[in-house]
Amino acid sequence: MQRLDKLIASQGTRSRSETVRLIRSGQVTVNGAVCRDPSAKYDADTCVVTVAGQPLCYQKYVYIMMNKPAGILCVSRDPKVPTVVDLLPEEMKRKNLFPAGRLDKDTVGLVLLTDDGDLAHRLLAPKREIVKRYQVRLDAPLSDEHCRAFAEGILLADGTRCRPAELLILENGEQPLAEVRITEGRYHQIKRMFGVLDRGVVWLKRLSIGKLVLDPSLSEGESRFLTDKERGSLE
Ligand code: URA
Repeated sequence: MQRLDKLIASQGTRSRSETVRLIRSGQVTVNGAVCRDPSAKYDADTCVVTVAGQPLCYQKYVYIMMNKPAGILCVSRDPKVPTVVDLLPEEMKRKNLFPAGRLDKDTVGLVLLTDDGDLAHRLLAPKREIVKRYQVRLDAPLSDEHCRAFAEGILLADGTRCRPAELLILENGEQPLAEVRITEGRYHQIKRMFGVLDRGVVWLKRLSIGKLVLDPSLSEGESRFLTDKERGSLE
């Protein structure tokens, strides 16, 4: 059971305040009768809702992309540090949202938030080898040797052999900018890969997960629901 205003606003097409206004002005019906109480509770799976004369197609799960800023933890809840879920606007929040795949606290960029555990499980399954693209700034120049090392599969300090990955140098110099493509998601993976090559990561941003690309119009800290096309591209 959930509040009518939240049930409607959670679908992502209207803000909570606009939803409350529509409900109070008699433009929302539930099971055929007008409901003017935004706090009335209904079972979203069974009730039939119309908003301004249009049926509401309730979606069981939500899929949100966020441009994560630095300083935010990529978990659902934390007693001390703000999390990606805390950062969502009220109308996007749902009870069981979690980030599908983690970024470090100081990493920025694409995070997918959902309450669809099966999809997250499929996305993160190592055998699917979904490509994650990152932009990275380093603390010392790069060379073709580094690109070759990535392509061969870097041996981490703890003896783990990484899968072959791509390193593309975008701008070389004292603090080079590069793009990295990896198909795994080990703890601090990119920082550890560069650590083996004696390079420190000074800035790291995730650009894409498979076919899902960070919307360049989202500023750091902003989120939006995925389009149907983006949602489909995750399968
Ligand atoms: N690799 C890292 O080292 N950190 C991240 O946040 C993501 C990939």
